[in-house]
Amino acid sequence: MQIYMQPFLLPTGAAPPEEKGTTWISEIVDMILNDGDPDKCKRDAIFNKVPMLEFAVPGKMSPGTEKLAKTSSPRLVKTHLPVQLLPMSFWENGCKMIYVARNAKDVAVSFYHFDLMNQMHPEPGTWEQYVEKYMAGRVAYGSWYDHVKGWWEKRKDHPILYLLYEDMKEDPKREIRKVMHFLGKDLKEEVLDRIVYHTSFEMMKENPTTNYTMVPNDVMDQSISPFMRKGIAGDWKNHFTVAQNETFNEDYERKMAGTTLQFRTEI
Ligand code: A3P
Repeated sequence: MQIYMQPFLLPTGAAPPEEKGTTWISEIVDMILNDGDPDKCKRDAIFNKVPMLEFAVPGKMSPGTEKLAKTSSPRLVKTHLPVQLLPMSFWENGCKMIYVARNAKDVAVSFYHFDLMNQMHPEPGTWEQYVEKYMAGRVAYGSWYDHVKGWWEKRKDHPILYLLYEDMKEDPKREIRKVMHFLGKDLKEEVLDRIVYHTSFEMMKENPTTNYTMVPNDVMDQSISPFMRKGIAGDWKNHFTVAQNETFNEDYERKMAGTTLQFRTEI
């Protein structure tokens, strides 16, 4: 009997603001499903093991939909799509979904660097220009605010495990255990410890199957900024000026008013 009746969807948190942390959660899920065996998890690059639904770079890499069409269910799917753009079949088929959200400021910083190095994305402009565009939702995948709130509401009527990047940084084992339960698995403590170790930032940064060095340079130029950049909570403090932070906070209060969703911007 198959334990997983449907594909899993691993949406990234807020878009371009996607949230960030999708690669991390993808590797964690693959590790859980492979009982914490690091060798099995090195069978292929993360972007092949967990194809991204909307990924398409014509002529350079095969599209996510093509890879997914060749994979039989149960399978892992990654997406940064906002909740309202997810194809209906994901809801109709009762797919389990894990959403990783990350605080708005660190997502802005992370995505700014990603846009700089990702040669398929439009130039982000200066940091100052980027913060403005980000607050207005004029970035890939639209508004971070709408993205995190949209998925947060949807969890009320669909099996969605909503995780926070900051919680994962604070206590990875606790959060990995949540994922394990959500997937209906029961792994021994030592296996969980192994998963924590192999999915740490340091290990994933050195692992060619998770650090995106297998992506061609003219798609991701890691000499500009590595994909596995810093992997911390609170890096925004190194980028936001005092004035930018004040403006951002005021705008944030307005956009996030009325939601029960709370983020920590440091741990
Ligand atoms: P930074 O740019 O802040 O370093 P995504 O995979 O959704 O595109 O998100 C990328 C972000 O997740 C990057 O953040 C990257 O460093 C971080 N990340 C990837 N793997 C991680 C891990 N194992 N631990 C912590 N952060 C990780």
